[in-house]
Amino acid sequence: MSKPFILYDTRHYSTVDAIAGYAKWAPTYDATVDNQLDIPLLSNLQTLPWLKINKAVDLGCGTGRIGKWLQNQGISDIYGVDCSSEMVNLAAAKQIYTQLDIVDITQTSLPSCSYDIAVTSLAVCHLPNLYALYTEVARLLQKGGLFVLVDYHPFFLLRGIPTNFDCENGESIFCTFI
Ligand SMILES: C[S@@+](CC[C@H](N)C(=O)[O-])C[C@H]1O[C@@H](n2cnc3c(N)ncnc32)[C@H](O)[C@@H]1O
Repeated sequence: MSKPFILYDTRHYSTVDAIAGYAKWAPTYDATVDNQLDIPLLSNLQTLPWLKINKAVDLGCGTGRIGKWLQNQGISDIYGVDCSSEMVNLAAAKQIYTQLDIVDITQTSLPSCSYDIAVTSLAVCHLPNLYALYTEVARLLQKGGLFVLVDYHPFFLLRGIPTNFDCENGESIFCTFI
């Protein structure tokens, strides 16, 4: 469990919860997120048996950037879950996902033992603890299913810097949990 950002925030950044933050970031997200944070890592995965993977769940799918990457790997049955309706609306417009649900990734209503792979990128940094996530992923995956997680959790960064973005007016906004 990471400590609240307020304990680290000596600079007094404007800080909002993830739902408010992504409502604000959604319109500029695709143009401003840095693909170098995760796409090279994902693309270097050597051990994923793509030909045997049919059904994927993208946890914290946002605007569909990782759904697109999964589609490029040959996966066509992709389920997306995210808490932000503004981000999900942008994902829906891309017509990548079989289904999109607006819900907490640690408490989805998706069926158990159903997915060959679960992927989450740059979303877990918004979870106050990881236990609920691993429990949910274990429930969702079918036997032998794979879990790919890419993130920079505030706990790992040690200085407690949460995900942040710059608004169009130049203000830096920090997003914590939902
Ligand atoms: C930095 S974006 C990453 C989106 C996408 N995975 C990507 O890599 O482009 C983080 C996403 O996680 C979502 N999110 C944060 N906490 C969440 C939670 N507890 N449940 C569901 N979605 C969450 C946010 O709404 C946001 O869309």
